[in-house]
This record gives sequence, structure tokens and C-alpha cells, in this order.
Amino acid sequence: MSKLVLVTGAAGFIGSAVTEELSRLGTRVLAVDALLDGLYPSSEKTERFHRVSELPGVSTMKFDLRTGDFDKLPHDITHVINEAAMPGLSLSWSDFDLYSSCNISGLSRLLDASRRWPLEKFVQVSTSSVYGAQAIGDEKQALAPVSPYGVTKLAAEHLSFAYWRESGIPATVLRYFSVYGPGQRPDMAYRRFITKALRGEPLTLFGSGKQSRTNTYIADCVSATVTALELGRPGIAYNISGSEQRSITEALEIIEGLVGHPLEIVSHDAVRGDQVETRGDSSLARAELGLVDSVTLETGLAEEFRWLQSKG
Ligand SMILES: NC(=O)c1ccc[n+]([C@@H]2O[C@H](COP(=O)([O-])OP(=O)(O)OC[C@H]3O[C@@H](n4cnc5c(N)ncnc54)[C@H](O)[C@@H]3O)[C@@H](O)[C@H]2O)c1
Repeated sequence: MSKLVLVTGAAGFIGSAVTEELSRLGTRVLAVDALLDGLYPSSEKTERFHRVSELPGVSTMKFDLRTGDFDKLPHDITHVINEAAMPGLSLSWSDFDLYSSCNISGLSRLLDASRRWPLEKFVQVSTSSVYGAQAIGDEKQALAPVSPYGVTKLAAEHLSFAYWRESGIPATVLRYFSVYGPGQRPDMAYRRFITKALRGEPLTLFGSGKQSRTNTYIADCVSATVTALELGRPGIAYNISGSEQRSITEALEIIEGLVGHPLEIVSHDAVRGDQVETRGDSSLARAELGLVDSVTLETGLAEEFRWLQSKG
């Protein structure tokens, strides 16, 4: 049977990049998204959705996992990549219903529909936030989220694995660590910093700046995700993380070098539920999914900087 990949959240930062890569590889894709407002304006999602709709082998459908009629989707879907979710921490404290409905209830409807398809792999996208304030080490570290967002994503992992154990849905989980690069979401720190730096406006730093991250470059995240369609083992969670750990202050110094003038920084309290330190060990994904670090943070931020400069 020829491969048909359902990509959900395909108008999002990462889902649109995954769809582009699958099209480039000659794979048929059904790209769906609810084009939700809330975290950031849906106009940016509409733009991405339009772009992927023109790619070879890609058909698009506006579809909300919470309410959509799954019988209207083709019945020969062989693979699913569930990128659809409400991400971001702050909003998850004030609108839990939105996060639980999109990240858990929508997934439960999708998993249920998947039982009727000739499914070879279900890739459920998760996050380092499932580990909690510190995400240090491999997949065996304790799972103790400190935000409602992280709680919903952990429940989503468990739900996917329950369908694997009980219904044989071949679910693999990918825990992404801070993805960045061209196309990044407008609410994420590096994009906010670069946007303000380019406009010569003061930028807001939440927390001390000592928080540190292992960041994942978008192309590396996409490549491992696409490989997981074939090689991801059902019932297994993989960390998808770059290996270079850098603080927010170091990232700001790199951005200052790119923009060529000193940044005006306004300090603010840390975001509730933010992670203090992430240092993901992705040995498993490196061995099994071919995850690599294709760029340094300096190069990756320069690519994001150039992309934002060209957007104007
Ligand atoms: N960006 C990161 O650094 C990062 C890190 C860890 C995990 N993740 C995960 O990666 C995935 C993609 O994140 P992103 O950064 O591209 O976010 P994004 O907000 O740009 O994309 C998510 C997309 O999902 C869609 N969506 C949400 N609820 C939906 C529903 N009920 N039905 C249909 N579509 C729906 C949204 O409209 C959006 O276009 C998410 O699952 C997120 O939790 C992202």
C-alpha cells in the first residue's frame, strides 16, 4: 500500500516544516490544522498552510481534532504525525480547558479514528516539559511537569501508549527540546528577542537569564521526526535534543553580535512553570533515528536572524 501520512498541526512552526520535508521526499501528505488563534495570530498559520498546500503530493484540510468528522478523512492513512497541540506555558495556567481539549481530548479522538486505518506508525509529539523544572539526562529521568501544558503533554504520552498496549496502535513518542531556527513561533524567546533587536526596541527578559537550554535546530528536529515514521519503535519515548547547552544570556550575546548594536533589556519575573535547566541526552535518537547537530547555536540563530530580516 502506498504511504499516506496524516500531519496534524501542519500550519504550525514544526508541522509545516515536517510537511515540506515529506513533500520533498516524494511522500503523499494530508495536512490538517484548526488554524487556532490564542497563543499567536492565526494569520501566520494561514500563510504557512497556504504555502504547504501548493507543495507536490500535499493536500490540506481545515480540521479541528476536537470536533472534526474523521469519517471525512481518507481511509487509507498509513502513518500519523501528531504535531497538533496548544504549546506555551503562560496561557496553560489561565485556559486549561483549551490545553486539555486540544492536547488530550483531540488526541483521544484521533487515536480512536486511527484504529480504522491501515496504520504502520503513529508519531506523538511531546516535550521536555514532561520532565519538569529540570530536564537533565536520558528518557529514564523522573516525569514531574511543573506547568499545566506539561501535564497535558504527559497525559497525551500515556494515552498514546495505552492505545499501543490495548489496541495495537504503533505509537512512538518524540520529546522535543526547545526547537528554533527559521519559522520559529512568534511567542518563543529567540524570535521575540531578534524581532525587538531588529526594530531597535527594548526586549523583555523573563527570569535571570541564567536558565540554560539544549536547543534543537528545526532541520534536525524535522529529519529525526520523519525518520521516526519508519524507525521509531512503538512504546518507546525518544528525547529529541541538540547537545550544546547554552544560557539565555549567551543567546542574547549572540543576537547582540548579529544585530551589531547593544540590546536594551528589560528584566521581568520568570514565567510560571518555566524550566530552569534542560540538558537532554538524546543518545537513543542519535543511534536509532539518526538525530544530528547540524549547526552551532551561533549558526542557527544567524539563520533565524536572516529569515526574520527578510520577512521585514
Ligand atoms: N516549538 C518547540 O520548541 C516545541 C518544543 C517541545 C514540543 N513541541 C511540540 O511540538 C508540536 C508543534 O509545536 P509548534 O511549536 O510547531 O507549535 P504551533 O502552535 O506553531 O503549531 C501547533 C499547531 O497545532 C494546531 N492545533 C492546535 N490544536 C488543534 C486542534 N484541536 N485541531 C487541529 N489543529 C490544532 C494549531 O493551530 C497550530 O497550528 C506541539 O505538539 C508542541 O507541543 C514544540
